Amino acid sequence: MNTPRLFSGIQPSGMIHLGNYLGAIKQWLELVKKYDSIFCIVDLHALTVRQKPEELRRNTIELAKIYLALGLDFQKSTIFVQSQVPQHADLAWILNTITKLPELERMTQFKDKSLVHKENINAGLFIYPVLMAADILLYDTAVVPVGEDQKQHVELARVLARRFNENFGETFVVPECLVQKQGARIMGLDDPLKKMSKSAASSFNFIALTDDTKTVEKKIARAVTDSGRDVVSGQDKPALTNLLTIYSLLTNQTIAQSEKEFVGQGYADFKKSLAQEINKFLQPIQKKISAFDNKAVLKILSDGQVRAQKLAEKKIKEVREKVGLI
Ligand code: AQP
Repeated sequence: MNTPRLFSGIQPSGMIHLGNYLGAIKQWLELVKKYDSIFCIVDLHALTVRQKPEELRRNTIELAKIYLALGLDFQKSTIFVQSQVPQHADLAWILNTITKLPELERMTQFKDKSLVHKENINAGLFIYPVLMAADILLYDTAVVPVGEDQKQHVELARVLARRFNENFGETFVVPECLVQKQGARIMGLDDPLKKMSKSAASSFNFIALTDDTKTVEKKIARAVTDSGRDVVSGQDKPALTNLLTIYSLLTNQTIAQSEKEFVGQGYADFKKSLAQEINKFLQPIQKKISAFDNKAVLKILSDGQVRAQKLAEKKIKEVREKVGLI
């Protein structure tokens, strides 16, 4: 029996942050032991928000370095860039033709991003979930580990897989969405009611994996807190709950254990320890990132492209035949 497949990706749309790590990448590192894993740098998705070409190119390579520095093994898993395998866009077009408009209209991420990027509400942003469905379905993916914000998109991939199979015969695996219990939604440091986001208006919203020690200290010191004095979580304490979640995930303990650790201490003490833990986590990663050479990384991505393309070509050939393309 074949090892079941895992697919996940991140957009090279800016600074990769702790939310991306704690919500998605952290669980990848466990799951690779069980699954034939494909990790994509989804640059076509990034284009749905205006990008500076030079920055997008740089961010794409930087993201590959981050994948590697965090411990993804390019020999055991496939790491590649989405736009280098054109079958993603081919399949997305075909899936567009079986996607109903209301299914896209109800997507919360489209609504959220339309509010932030009012000057550029483009068709790509609207059909983004269909391209994501194509990314997943192209590889007979069994599981898709993502943060909570992507759950609705994976659900659409499931719907489209079933619909295609019903209309054209068994073709796609219906994927499962894997969302972690803790860390699935890390909130912004400047607004604990909104998720931490690369494209947030202020860099005080997130901790980038490339932030230096001083920046981390400054951002954590400025992070919003709740009223009160005790370091405790709760529904009426969204800011503290978020900071405690980050602390607990980085120290591998439960929130209750973290709360216990800070009994009798104030917000300032807690924030100091939190900044220290974040820096302890980031420093070795940053060292690894800066040691990678661009040429070596491009070679890894090109090997990944070859592997991914082989699988994608087989699947798209089957799809083309089933829908009647010659
Ligand atoms: N705040 C978050 N908490 C937990 N998980 C998160 N993810 C993103 N933000 C959080 C997860 O990270 C993976 C990669 O995300 P993405 O690059 O595909 O885009 P996104 O979900 O739209 O993330 P951002 O940071 O908000 O990017 P921009 O600002 O460019 O749109 C996904 O698994 C996601 O769930």
